[in-house]
Amino acid sequence: QAVPVIAIDGPSASGKGTVAARVATALGWHYLDSGALYRLTALAAQRAGVTWDDEQALAVIAARLNVRFDSDSVWLAGEPVSAAIRSEVISAGASQVAAWPAVRAALLFRQRLFRRAPGLVTDGRDMGSVVFPDAQTKIFLTARVEVRAQRRYQQLRENGMSASIQPILQDLRERDERDSQRPVAPLRQSEEACLLDTSDLTIEQAVEKVLAWHGEAV
Ligand code: C5P
Repeated sequence: QAVPVIAIDGPSASGKGTVAARVATALGWHYLDSGALYRLTALAAQRAGVTWDDEQALAVIAARLNVRFDSDSVWLAGEPVSAAIRSEVISAGASQVAAWPAVRAALLFRQRLFRRAPGLVTDGRDMGSVVFPDAQTKIFLTARVEVRAQRRYQQLRENGMSASIQPILQDLRERDERDSQRPVAPLRQSEEACLLDTSDLTIEQAVEKVLAWHGEAV
């Protein structure tokens, strides 16, 4: 019997990470934030002086990432980098490195290692389509771009960073475009995925919905 997986895919700042982490806690399952691996690759490359257009060098960095996740931090080569990987520069870099097939291939095997009993909840762009195509529950979680920009804005402000809506909105539109137009593993809702639009839902309501769908799937 394969270890069960709940795959939650969707665009940037849709809230999928928060929802996925809470579903994992509710079920007592493991959680994988796959976007963090692309962010870590972008950060490790920057530190090694490798540019985000050097596909082969990036693939080597992705394959060798010395990373550890614990309940509230991400570590790269022993250093806490949770804040560093969320910066605007690294967010843009992550979306560029994620467009390279060799980088995606290098991270594929790593992601599958997170599938351990009693189960895995994961979020990203291609969790249900490429990485865990046999996931029991597949969800495409999204929200209107204006709502996502507002959420990102609030999150930045709460973390003490200065921010304004317009550049965030533009950045999200560009990233949506890049993530959905790329030839490899583009972001799109697969036919089997349940659509969850969280524009008018609280986090708790979104979590309830995922748990309810999952309950129906098993
Ligand atoms: O989800 P998050 O915004 O942290 O992801 C950062 C970037 O990594 C995204 O813009 C996307 O390009 C890429 N990504 C991906 N496939 C995934 C997860 C993230 O291409 N499964």
